Amino acid sequence: MTNEELRLKSCIEQIRAKTDFVPTIGIVLGSGLGEYGRKIFTEVEIPYSEIQGFPVSTVPGHAGRYLFGKVGEVPVVCMQGRVHSYEGYDMKDVVLPIRIMGELGAKMIILTNAAGGVNKDFAPGTLMVIEDQISSFVRSPLIGANPDSLGVRFPDMTEIYSQRMRKLIFEVGKENDIPLYSGVYLQFSGPQYETPAEIRMARALGADAVGMSTCVEAIAARHMGVELCGISCITNYAAGISGECLSHEEVQNTADEISEKFETLITGIVEKAGKLW
Ligand code: HPA
Repeated sequence: MTNEELRLKSCIEQIRAKTDFVPTIGIVLGSGLGEYGRKIFTEVEIPYSEIQGFPVSTVPGHAGRYLFGKVGEVPVVCMQGRVHSYEGYDMKDVVLPIRIMGELGAKMIILTNAAGGVNKDFAPGTLMVIEDQISSFVRSPLIGANPDSLGVRFPDMTEIYSQRMRKLIFEVGKENDIPLYSGVYLQFSGPQYETPAEIRMARALGADAVGMSTCVEAIAARHMGVELCGISCITNYAAGISGECLSHEEVQNTADEISEKFETLITGIVEKAGKLW
């Protein structure tokens, strides 16, 4: 067993000592989106700080706990707060919480984030269904000894965000009158926001949105065979588009404004997707 497998095993044992809850769907709530936790009929709450070996988030707006409970009839585990590599964590730490959700039983994970709109048509407040991603600017979480019990050495990433889930999300959007767009998400390391030149580069490479999370989590989830979908809340025009300066405050404010639509969408996705397993 690799060190990662040992650590994962230990975290699972600690969680299993507190609850035998088996989630079908995992949800990761991004910057400013943690309020969705209110919508979950929570049965058990485990602060990350109570799990030895678990990386604890330091970013304001990231509460830092797992919620186990139901959305409608569907058992979910929700990460209220994630860890980012810019906090100083190794990519293996960053993806550990995702691997834990997979090991606890999650068949599908919904990744959400706040992102800058690179596509000039994506005004702040736009909800973007992630269709594909570019992770080439950050270190792969799979570098190092391969945890064979989780997945293969060279995992396929052709359909990293599942097509059937993307289709399902657009159905939910339609049913609830929530306009949705589709696009490519690119992860930069952060924590500084990008320069206008970097945003022009991102656009030239085919990105529609940029952020500081998600891609590495998606890689780890696909590696272990968990189905994925992703939603970016475009909280601001990416650098250089509007000429305004970027701030975490703006990101959180837009995330707040968009939260009602976002919450309806997530609940709709969980209820519909929950029937697939
Ligand atoms: N860049 C990177 N990350 C972000 C942004 C951005 O413009 N907005 C929200 N997260």
